[in-house]
Formats: sequence, C-alpha cells, structure tokens
Amino acid sequence: MFNALQKMQTRPEPFEFYTTDVLWTDEHIARQMLAYHLNEQVDAASRNPKFIDRSVAWMVDTFHIRKGFSLIDFGCGPGLYTQRLARSGASVMGVDFSGNSLAYARSQAQREGLSIQYVQENYLNFVSNEQVDFVSMIMCDFCALSPVQRRQMLQRFAACLKPGGKILLDAYTLKAYQKREEKTLYEFNLMDGFWSAEPYHGFLHVFKYDQAVVVLDQYTIIESESTRMVYNWLQYFSREQIALEFEQAGLRIHAWLGDVAGADYDDQADEFAVIAEKIN
Ligand SMILES: C[S@@+](CC[C@H](N)C(=O)[O-])C[C@H]1O[C@@H](n2cnc3c(N)ncnc32)[C@H](O)[C@@H]1O
Repeated sequence: MFNALQKMQTRPEPFEFYTTDVLWTDEHIARQMLAYHLNEQVDAASRNPKFIDRSVAWMVDTFHIRKGFSLIDFGCGPGLYTQRLARSGASVMGVDFSGNSLAYARSQAQREGLSIQYVQENYLNFVSNEQVDFVSMIMCDFCALSPVQRRQMLQRFAACLKPGGKILLDAYTLKAYQKREEKTLYEFNLMDGFWSAEPYHGFLHVFKYDQAVVVLDQYTIIESESTRMVYNWLQYFSREQIALEFEQAGLRIHAWLGDVAGADYDDQADEFAVIAEKIN
C-alpha cells in the first residue's frame, strides 16, 4: 500500500511513459471514448457537430478540396471529419489505432455510400504509398506527443505530402498552460466507471513541468487483481516553438489561426491552429 502510494506521487520525467494506446484501444475505455466522441453536448474527444460542419466547410473552401484532391486525416477517430470531407468527392483516408472508432467510421461511410479508406495503425509508423495534397490532425492530438514523437510525426507528414501540400493542426497555448493547476484526487470508481467495468479505486495526479511547458494527468486505477497507470501528457506551445519544430522537418508555417474552422488567431485563447506547407 505504502509503495503503491509512493509510486503514484513520484513525478515522472516529461513523456517518460507512453500509454495513449490504452486510452483508445482498451475495450471498455474505447467504448467510453466513442460515447464522448458522439456526445453532441460536450467537446471532449471530438468537437460538436456544428463546429465540425463549419470546420469542414471552411477546409473545403480554403484548401479547394474537391474531386481529384487527396487527403489523410491522422487520428480520424470515428470519422466525423473524414465523412464530411469525402462528400466533396476528394479521395479521403483516415488513420487511427482505435478499432472501435474505425468500426463506427466504416459503418457510417457505408451507410452513406462514401468510399473512404480507413487504416488501423499507429500513425507514428504510418507510411503512405502515395503523396497527397493535404493532411490534418485535429483536436490537439499533436500536443499528446513527446518531442521525439512530434519530430517523427512531422517527418511522416512531410513524407506523405506532395511538394506544396498543406498541413492543418491545432494545439494548446501557453495561456492554457497557465490555467492548469497541480492537484491530487481520489475517488471510488473515478469518473463514474470510465476506467473499468469492475469496481476500482482511482487516483488522479496532475503534475506541471514549467520548464518543458508540459502537464501530466496521471491516472492510477486499482482493481482487485491489478493496478494500472495511464499517463496523459499534454505539451503547450508558443508559436515560436511550433514554427521551429515545423521548420526542422522542412515545413513552413503558412498561417496562424484561432481554430481549425478559420477563426482569427487570438493570443488570449487556449488553442490555436496552424496551416503549414511542405517546402519542396
Ligand atoms: C482526441 S481524438 C480526436 C479524433 C478526431 N480527430 C476528432 O477530432 O473527432 C484522438 C484520436 O487519435 C487517435 N490516436 C491517438 N494516438 C494515436 C496513434 N499514435 N496512432 C493512431 N491513432 C492515434 C485516437 O484513437 C483518437 O481516435
């Protein structure tokens, strides 16, 4: 007991452990996540349908998405963007490692008679056979990646884009970092049974790393037979930091925005979005 408590209050190094796959692929948790994606009242795993409609209309207009255009959405989840984007006639691919979300995405595409290619894979390892015009990563997924993973991801983006191809992604700001606070929370069946169908004791430790501008939401789930720890890392970004990381991958920032629906950049906001271009 003492050792378990000791472990959970010991601050790991930033991005020391990677457990994102547990969050999206554990059967019970993935079901809860899909429910969040599809819950129109909360902007949790996905944003609300009105926003997504607006975002896709803006993307289609801004990037001239139409028949003959090709795109890949990384971390497409249940296909809320890919499905709408495919209605433009463009060639659309979605990559995600959540089988549960992709099953939903496939069923929706089939219902509408849309031809969308869904690939179940860790996007950090994804290799495209063809170069496309556009790639996206939406809902600040980029922030969940370590510096090494981000470098890898940006290289993957560059490799699957045609010269001049565009990237759209969103990220959390330094303002959002300032609003986060360290805390410790204990609750029986923490988050109303989100973490397991069996009874459990749940601890949440929020650790802030000022130098790295990273926050860790560390969940410890204690069940009768086992103890699991889930590490949700979030990197918060200045524009300079994003620009540097993109430049190092041969990508040039094209525009700063407030969100992936084309709002103006706001330096007081919690999120921003970026359009980047593959230089050659
Ligand atoms: C926050 S959700 C956003 C989903 C979608 N972009 C949206 O806004 O509706 C993140 C998605 O990325 C997927 N994901 C996270 N890390 C991944 C990885 N390394 N490889 C593939 N998919 C990943 C998750 O399964 C999940 O569907």
